Amino acid sequence: MAMSSTRPHPLPPLERLLVVGSGGRENALAWALRRCSGIEDVWVTPGNGGTKEHQGCGCLAIAETDVNGLIDACQSLQIDLVVIGPEAPLAAGVADGLREAGLAVFGPGAEGAQLEASKAWSKTLMAEAGVPTAKHWTVSTAADALSVLNQVQQPLVVKADGLAAGKGVCVADSIEATAEAIQEVFSGRFGAAGCQLVLEERLEGPEVSVFALCDGERLLLLPPAQDHKRLEDGDRGPNTGGMGAYAPAPLLDAAGLDLVRRVVLEPTLATLKQRGIDYRGVIYAGLMLTPSGPQVIEFNCRFGDPECQTLMPLMGPELAKVLQACALGCLDQAPELLIVDRCSACVVAAAAGYPNAPRKGDRLNIQLQPGPSLQLFHAGTRCTEEGDQLTNGGRVLAVVAQANDFDQAFSNAYQGLDQVYFEGITYRRDIGHQVRQS
Ligand code: AMP
Ligand code: GLY
Repeated sequence: MAMSSTRPHPLPPLERLLVVGSGGRENALAWALRRCSGIEDVWVTPGNGGTKEHQGCGCLAIAETDVNGLIDACQSLQIDLVVIGPEAPLAAGVADGLREAGLAVFGPGAEGAQLEASKAWSKTLMAEAGVPTAKHWTVSTAADALSVLNQVQQPLVVKADGLAAGKGVCVADSIEATAEAIQEVFSGRFGAAGCQLVLEERLEGPEVSVFALCDGERLLLLPPAQDHKRLEDGDRGPNTGGMGAYAPAPLLDAAGLDLVRRVVLEPTLATLKQRGIDYRGVIYAGLMLTPSGPQVIEFNCRFGDPECQTLMPLMGPELAKVLQACALGCLDQAPELLIVDRCSACVVAAAAGYPNAPRKGDRLNIQLQPGPSLQLFHAGTRCTEEGDQLTNGGRVLAVVAQANDFDQAFSNAYQGLDQVYFEGITYRRDIGHQVRQS
């Protein structure tokens, strides 16, 4: 009997994956993907000191942006799906290069990655899509920026246009501080990222991260997560990449998440499509929940870190197939992604001197035994030829725990962290204070 033409095609076989990147996010992605049904091998490049700790995961030494090296490795290892973790290779067009070579890739091409790589581009797209976001002005000279400031006569948020490793934003408290931040961006401190500037009205409210897995047309939302950007307890000290997170963040209930889907993510994906961009990867909406509703603070073109480390242990064994379906533009044919209904808590341990000058080369002493509800993900670590694990970056590792409530999840994560040591270990004691009673 002939098959009906409307019957969905099954997804192609999926056994071997390559994850590109070297952070905690990629360690967690590799761990979660390796657990998925039918997966035999997960390679990570360039990976970190913890990549091989997860059974079935291997490390390659190819740079994130070495497209030809990645293509060669994918061919020789018969990789079925490439998952690109960080923004830099995405913005550099690595996904485009791999797709041209016929590979299935989870991660947007360079054009779509502009969502993160250019704040001006992203704000224009938000305006076109009617997405709620702070009023803004894009300027390309200090004089124009100061003239905007002079007109509005209020402190503004100053954002270097391009990728600046999370350091290109200044939330100024006064008009004078705004002017200083403007001068700093045009002083060349951010290189090419500082050629244009976005000035934004300052919003107030708690922040929450929402991740949508996209296949170009459809999207699937993950539970909201809350990051902790400041280095020190009480949300003090300098901004960091993120010192810990928890999910699901009760800040957005099911109705709130649905609102974000309707007013933020669907219009954004539709506008990308109208521009001819086939966006296959994560849209990360960094939101501020203001008294007048959720507003987009920023879009990123990848999973957040440490949010990804927090979320991965909640993902069911269908995750790999779901990412593959996104990569192939057929999310409607993916199995339903089961998401465990538990609380996940993640605490990051950073090196002394992070974020400005993290100290490296200290030996890790890890007594922690991971379990079904307790994980240790490596980030800034490396393995010596003798097999010693050393610190090798700002955010060194994270302990993640799941439980039926946040008190228990954080208690387990902190107990896990007590069994990890390196000289100068630095972490916040109050991660999840928003959802903890104890
Ligand atoms: P971004 O890199 O755009 O996420 O900005 C970094 C941080 O700056 C955000 O996580 C917010 O805490 C803060 N921020 C950015 N834009 C605004 C805004 N319009 N109003 C208030 N805070 C902001
Ligand atoms: N945790 C924030 C980020 O990944 O940008």
